[in-house]
Amino acid sequence: MNPLKHVAIIMDGNGRWGLKYRNSRNEGHREGINTLEKIIKESLKNNIKFLTLYAFSTENWKRPKNEISFLFKLLENFLQTKIKDLHNKNIKLKIIGTINFSKKINRLLQSSEKITSKNNKLQINLALNYGSKAELINAFKLINKNKEKITEKNLIRNLQTKNIPDPDILIRTGNTRRLSNFLLWQLAYTEIFFEKKLWPEFNESDFRKIINNYKKIKRNYGSI
Ligand code: IPE
Ligand code: IPE
Ligand code: MG
Repeated sequence: MNPLKHVAIIMDGNGRWGLKYRNSRNEGHREGINTLEKIIKESLKNNIKFLTLYAFSTENWKRPKNEISFLFKLLENFLQTKIKDLHNKNIKLKIIGTINFSKKINRLLQSSEKITSKNNKLQINLALNYGSKAELINAFKLINKNKEKITEKNLIRNLQTKNIPDPDILIRTGNTRRLSNFLLWQLAYTEIFFEKKLWPEFNESDFRKIINNYKKIKRNYGSI
């Protein structure tokens, strides 16, 4: 049985769900929050230590303004209403990606990180304005600036995921088989599960099935 420490998720398919059932992409994003809460609960139950969630990519700025502002409103509302609960559950929140939003959102993100910084049951890494290519370029720039040698160790130390083990599992919902600029370095030996269901349809039992399948996989890391 493989140990399980870290699950990463590309929460995809909200827009399609919303259009299909509510005639609105934004309503799909709203519905997606319910799945998020289910998966956080199930992660706690399964003693998962790190949950990394792709919420907004560096490429998602190409979307219509109204969708972007709705997404950030949802984020604001989620943090304002749920951060106490996350804190009580001993969850630590960490943002990966560049925090350069409105002053209000920046402050909310920073204070949410601060309030929960000492917690140690589960760490949620929320990928916001995150892109793996930008992260890698930034890491190389830091190595260069600090006159460090280019080694695996030094690169890892300069990534935004430093001190976080690589994901054991990557799940992408929404019936699309691509990485969309998510954790390209960190996923080198991750077990990948592409899920047909759209994110708002994904549930605890789907999550448990993936975990059980993962546990039985023979992980070789190039060996035999
Ligand atoms: C993923 O769902 C959520 C974000 C990118 C914020 P999408 O909005 O990409 O949903 P689809 O893929 O268009 O259905
Ligand atoms: C990836 O989904 C980003 C998030 C889930 C936040 P996208 O829907 O943006 O990916 P593409 O554009 O279809 O590759
Ligand atoms: Mg999508």
